[in-house]
Amino acid sequence: MNVHSFFDAQSSTFSYVVCCEKTSQCAIIDSVKNYDPASGRTDTKCADEIIKYIEDNNLNLQWILETHIHADHLSAAPYIKDKLGGRTAIGSRICEVQKIFKGLLAEDDFSTDGRQFDHQFHDGETFKIGEIEARVIHTPGHTPACITFVIEDAIFVGDTLFMPDAGTARCDFPGGDAETLYESILKILALPDDYRIFICHDYGSSSRKEVANMTTVKEEKQENIHVGANKTKDEFIKMRQERDATLDLPFLMIPSVQVNMRAGALPPQEKNGVRYIKIPIDVL
Ligand SMILES: [Fe+2]
Repeated sequence: MNVHSFFDAQSSTFSYVVCCEKTSQCAIIDSVKNYDPASGRTDTKCADEIIKYIEDNNLNLQWILETHIHADHLSAAPYIKDKLGGRTAIGSRICEVQKIFKGLLAEDDFSTDGRQFDHQFHDGETFKIGEIEARVIHTPGHTPACITFVIEDAIFVGDTLFMPDAGTARCDFPGGDAETLYESILKILALPDDYRIFICHDYGSSSRKEVANMTTVKEEKQENIHVGANKTKDEFIKMRQERDATLDLPFLMIPSVQVNMRAGALPPQEKNGVRYIKIPIDVL
């Protein structure tokens, strides 16, 4: 199995291509479409890099996977699917997240059964990338629909864990919960010590200028500043809630959720043929 990473500096997001070397089948995890909220313009530079990598290596795209409904970048899933094929997929609790944002955005015609995605993964479900066996673990907490992919010895955790010196993701988005996140992290830390953990975001740290995207279960268990060295659930919940109260909303949260709840599709055209992003005023 081969794992290749891509980094979007605008949202500090790592996307991945996981490839079965025997069959040349591959999966993309957490793709990015760039968006400039000042002009309302999207661009596909990041997605095109991934598409080029897949084409240059003569890979066949089987899956376009999301670890969750991202709140800091738009998914490029439909754009990539249009170019390369593949099935889009996310966790089955997507319906809960869709219901939350349908209400917030007054999207009366929006279906909240997850039908925008080709497949919804249940907890414990297995699937194949070529001949590679992959498994899904539901890891809610950051959002209700967060999932983790365990693909051989590689674990793709989304935002459930960050690098050990960066800790964990916030739990104050609608449907998020610190206690639930702690329980989810325990599921990941119960995997073998030498399994590699690939994270979705990194912003560097005070002691580390370069961004990083890979660690191990052992390192997270020993060194993660929020959950490592046997920090208790109560300590974690207190820390997480105090810290979350100080955080601003992500710059691209409002556009991201209304696109990503549609599996990366932009909102439907208005009568004039233009698509719009809504902004709820004085709500969030
Ligand atoms: Fe996230």
